[in-house]
Amino acid sequence: MTAWSLQAFDSLDSTSEEVRRRAEAGAPEGLAVLARRQTAGRGRRGRSWDSPEGNLFLSLLLRPRVTPAEAARLSFLVAVAVTEALDLAAPALRGQVTCKWPNDVLVAGAKIAGILLESRTAPDGGLDWVIVGIGVNLAHFPPDTPYAATALSAHGVAVLPEDFAGWLLARLGYWLGRWRSEGFAPVREAWLARAQGIGREVVVRLPDSELRGRFAALDESGALLLELPDGSRQAVTAGDVFPAA
Ligand code: BTN
Repeated sequence: MTAWSLQAFDSLDSTSEEVRRRAEAGAPEGLAVLARRQTAGRGRRGRSWDSPEGNLFLSLLLRPRVTPAEAARLSFLVAVAVTEALDLAAPALRGQVTCKWPNDVLVAGAKIAGILLESRTAPDGGLDWVIVGIGVNLAHFPPDTPYAATALSAHGVAVLPEDFAGWLLARLGYWLGRWRSEGFAPVREAWLARAQGIGREVVVRLPDSELRGRFAALDESGALLLELPDGSRQAVTAGDVFPAA
């Protein structure tokens, strides 16, 4: 079980940036930074992340002894932990909490949480650190996203970020322990049990193109296996997935 050292702030530029500063200064694994609001919250692919007070903004420092490719699978572990924390925070929503490839968490089909993994590789090729940034819409959700978004409050559930952080850190500790002792297989199984869109026709948006096909499976590395119209399969390692129109 990971021993977390939780530090809470009223305001930060970004909890992930704070953890990065501390990681560079030699902080040990297990640092967890929570902020009530962020002034420069960041999302995937250089996007910003709306960070009003009332939502959860949490970042963790890990120094796993694995390859960068293995560490990339942490996003699935974190997504599973977030779904389980949501089950604890909002038992009435059980059954509506799903995972969207690669690392979003949805409630009733709308995005409620985002996960951002950042890492630095040491000169010997090993990992120096991994920063896991997690944002969960507890009280607010952005109105103008290109995808459906929601918050727990929209489902009549009021949860404080510090309470949610407690549930989440407990579930993360549990799954990190299993990952260390058993590898990715149980994480993959738990993620697949919650996965949205498996077997359905999807569009995968890549930085400068898009692919259409059937979301056939998740492979052992965490890549989405897309069955193309000609029957061949393509492993997709990054992109945004949408239901095909
Ligand atoms: C996404 O784009 O879906 C990922 C969003 C990740 C946001 C979280 S909020 C806590 C941490 N600090 C940041 O600046 N970003 C992450």
